[in-house]
Amino acid sequence: MTQSLTFVTLLGSLRKGSYNGIVARALPGLAPEGVTIAPLGSVGDLPHYDADLQAAGWPAPVTAMAEAMRAADGIIIVSPEYNYSVPGVLKNAIDWLSRQPEQPFKGKPVLIQSASPGVLGGARMQYHLRQSLVFLDARVFNVPEVMVGAAHTKVDEATGALTDQGTRDFIAKQIAAFADFVRGR
Ligand code: FNR
Repeated sequence: MTQSLTFVTLLGSLRKGSYNGIVARALPGLAPEGVTIAPLGSVGDLPHYDADLQAAGWPAPVTAMAEAMRAADGIIIVSPEYNYSVPGVLKNAIDWLSRQPEQPFKGKPVLIQSASPGVLGGARMQYHLRQSLVFLDARVFNVPEVMVGAAHTKVDEATGALTDQGTRDFIAKQIAAFADFVRGR
């Protein structure tokens, strides 16, 4: 019997109409049978990382996010690229999570996706993110890579739907390949 899997999504944008948010919300509908995908809390709920704040007691949203990540079979990070790199809000979340006891990225399968109105679809952000995930000892999935370029042409901004069929098919293929990777196939 095929092992059921649960993945959680970490979104790197706070924008209401976020293209990355549209991609992230489309994922449950693109998952193969036996794979459940649910969102983590918002990175916007986390305070700026401060070691003094940590020493005074872990913020509840950090603890909740870390627990949900530990319980999941894999983490899907969907994020914009800011200035050729990782948005500060996402990096801030990673910094908090990295200080947790039982660091939740350690040994955990991670899938990266990005979307941008630009042609490269956030590719440069993905390679900076991979650098941090090396230090955190995550098991980052390699190929196929999902970088949704010209994202504004592939969504319906009014309904928040990912409308481009080619993009939907490719993402579905990537999630299926990630599920195989997680199952050790
Ligand atoms: C951007 N944007 C951007 N796009 C890109 O492809 N490469 C980049 O380096 C940047 N840099 C950048 C910096 C800052 C501060 C902002 C606000 C924007 C454009 C970005 O891709 C666009 O705003 C997306 O719509 C952001 O993603 P969401 O919020 O739609 O998911």
